[in-house]
Amino acid sequence: MSQQRVAIVTGAGSGFGAAIARRFSKDGVAVVVCDINDTNGQAVTDDINAKGGKAIYVNCDVSKRAPWENLLAETKKHFGGVNFVINNAGATYKNKPVMQTTEGDFDLCFDVNVKSVFHSVHVMIPALREARAANGPAAIVNVASTAGIMGRPGLTWYAASKAACISCTKNLAIEFGPEQIRFNAICPVFGNTGLKQMFMGETSEDMFLKSIPLGRCSEPEDIANSTVFLCSDEASFLTGVALPVDGGRLA
Ligand SMILES: NC(=O)c1ccc[n+]([C@@H]2O[C@H](COP(=O)([O-])OP(=O)(O)OC[C@H]3O[C@@H](n4cnc5c(N)ncnc54)[C@H](O)[C@@H]3O)[C@@H](O)[C@H]2O)c1
Repeated sequence: MSQQRVAIVTGAGSGFGAAIARRFSKDGVAVVVCDINDTNGQAVTDDINAKGGKAIYVNCDVSKRAPWENLLAETKKHFGGVNFVINNAGATYKNKPVMQTTEGDFDLCFDVNVKSVFHSVHVMIPALREARAANGPAAIVNVASTAGIMGRPGLTWYAASKAACISCTKNLAIEFGPEQIRFNAICPVFGNTGLKQMFMGETSEDMFLKSIPLGRCSEPEDIANSTVFLCSDEASFLTGVALPVDGGRLA
């Protein structure tokens, strides 16, 4: 039996993050559920533990450095170290024409979707190096979006933040490849989560679905399966990938 693997999942109180946390636990990985919504984060944690998994909840605003340091300290206290960091927490403003967007909208997208990756790298890389030194796997998956690759109206700054997320994933993959620390991104299409209503503008859900060849939204389980795969031993030669999980939207 190999050593217990440990994953930190940000924004794991709901949507994609909750499914990723549950999916890791199904594979026997200990999970650190991180969110700013304590009620949701604790509920996901309790559910994982009730089903025989190992999970703790840590409040962490991913846009700030000090909460990341606390997140790492709590992770080490409970589980000894970390192998996988999933930068899933994300935010957007409600779909609107660009001239109606505010500086606050811009800052929200870049603080939660991009600066979070900056903090995760600065705080977590030493711990991932420790995981490698102990012969364990080390990987970061950033949850970006198809919006970071292809445009849609009304979400310019959100899309730009996800493009930045994809770009830094590729650059980090190159820089940390020689240390066998892998970086990949997942690019979900429009999904059934709390953010769904924010993404809709004048476009109806039907119109969205018409642009997806497989004819449906992404479900949290689709994103969870792909994310956990990118952390698995089977994916050990994959780094710098921005994987669309999009039912063919970008085909
Ligand atoms: N739902 C979609 O259509 C879709 C499509 C592409 C990409 N994404 C991305 O998927 C990721 C997950 O979003 P979701 O759709 O599951 O939405 P969601 O709203 O269900 O989940 C987001 C979670 O992040 C948490 N969060 C928000 N700000 C935070 C912060 N500063 N620090 C820590 N946690 C914070 C929220 O409390 C929430 O639990 C996001 O990065 C989002 O941009 C979503």
